[in-house]
Amino acid sequence: MSILIIGGTGFIGARIAKKLIDLEEQVVAFDASPNQDFIKGYEDKIKVVRGDITAIEQVLNAIKDNGVTKIINLAFVLEIESMMNPHLAVKVNCLGTNNVFEAARIMNVKRIVYASSITAYGPHQKHGDKVLTEDDPLYPITVYGYQKALSEFMAKYYHDAYGMEIYTLRVGSAFGPGRTGGSTAFVSNITTLPALRQPVHIPLKSSTNFVYSSVDDVAQAFVNVCQAEAKQLQHILYNVGGHTHTGDEVAERIRELIPDARITFGDIDVYYVFRIDNKRLSEDTGFKLTPMREGIKNNINEVRKEKGLPLV
Ligand SMILES: NC(=O)c1ccc[n+]([C@@H]2O[C@H](COP(=O)([O-])OP(=O)(O)OC[C@H]3O[C@@H](n4cnc5c(N)ncnc54)[C@H](O)[C@@H]3O)[C@@H](O)[C@H]2O)c1
Repeated sequence: MSILIIGGTGFIGARIAKKLIDLEEQVVAFDASPNQDFIKGYEDKIKVVRGDITAIEQVLNAIKDNGVTKIINLAFVLEIESMMNPHLAVKVNCLGTNNVFEAARIMNVKRIVYASSITAYGPHQKHGDKVLTEDDPLYPITVYGYQKALSEFMAKYYHDAYGMEIYTLRVGSAFGPGRTGGSTAFVSNITTLPALRQPVHIPLKSSTNFVYSSVDDVAQAFVNVCQAEAKQLQHILYNVGGHTHTGDEVAERIRELIPDARITFGDIDVYYVFRIDNKRLSEDTGFKLTPMREGIKNNINEVRKEKGLPLV
């Protein structure tokens, strides 16, 4: 019996894998471009299968060959890449996501947990000042946002039509070492570069609000839903949430730990929503966000430890 993590050697997937291995689960990482760096230190405890979700037979074989009982799906073409290559995005994000649901249906996989995104909510101006819950409407404006909204619709369809346990986790923006891709990679750079005494330029206005969650917290959210008893999970859609901060506020927190951190900002505005309620996830699974100050410190020290530098 094993848990198949699709996109399991990516930024978030590898963290989930590590946490599940620590819980003594058998983990199989299925990935189109396995990244050994992300699983360094536990590569001997994880089976890595190279595969592509756009080929349903590869997903079926991975399930069959490994006695898979649960799937966590993270594979998706990210926001900027989806705009640059919309055809590939449709293949991976629409057909590929459906292949995972369909393969799980055919093979009677017990549970699927997969990643959606707050981009499905669309621009924050559409929602006013309110703190967004899972019941608020979606107004996506990008290829990626629409495809996340479609994946949520299809997850609910498979749940309702076939009685499958498919849980959606809407992720905000995860910061942590190793993240280089995605439209919001700067949320990682703002901590990882000062940790190495390198300057960092954030293209956003310093007054822009953003929702920050450490990659460790995001991974924990997936583990909580993956491992919960079915009766605990009262919903099929959960916000992971995050801390709302301006760039200035995050820079201030970083300078409390690294006083001479060189952080500059640009003048770009982003559309992302930034006030997210995650009460559902907390109530059903006991999920708790790590306080921002602690999350930043953990992130900085992880980067410094890796380079053999003294901790802050
Ligand atoms: N990182 C964030 O802040 C964030 C925010 C919101 C939502 N998400 C969602 O979380 C998920 C994981 O994000 P991440 O930051 O870890 O991204 P990532 O790019 O680091 O990881 C995705 C992994 O999926 C693999 N993959 C891509 N296409 C594939 C395919 N066709 N078949 C098999 N594997 C494939 C990639 O090789 C990669 O290892 C994505 O669905 C993303 O949309 C992430």
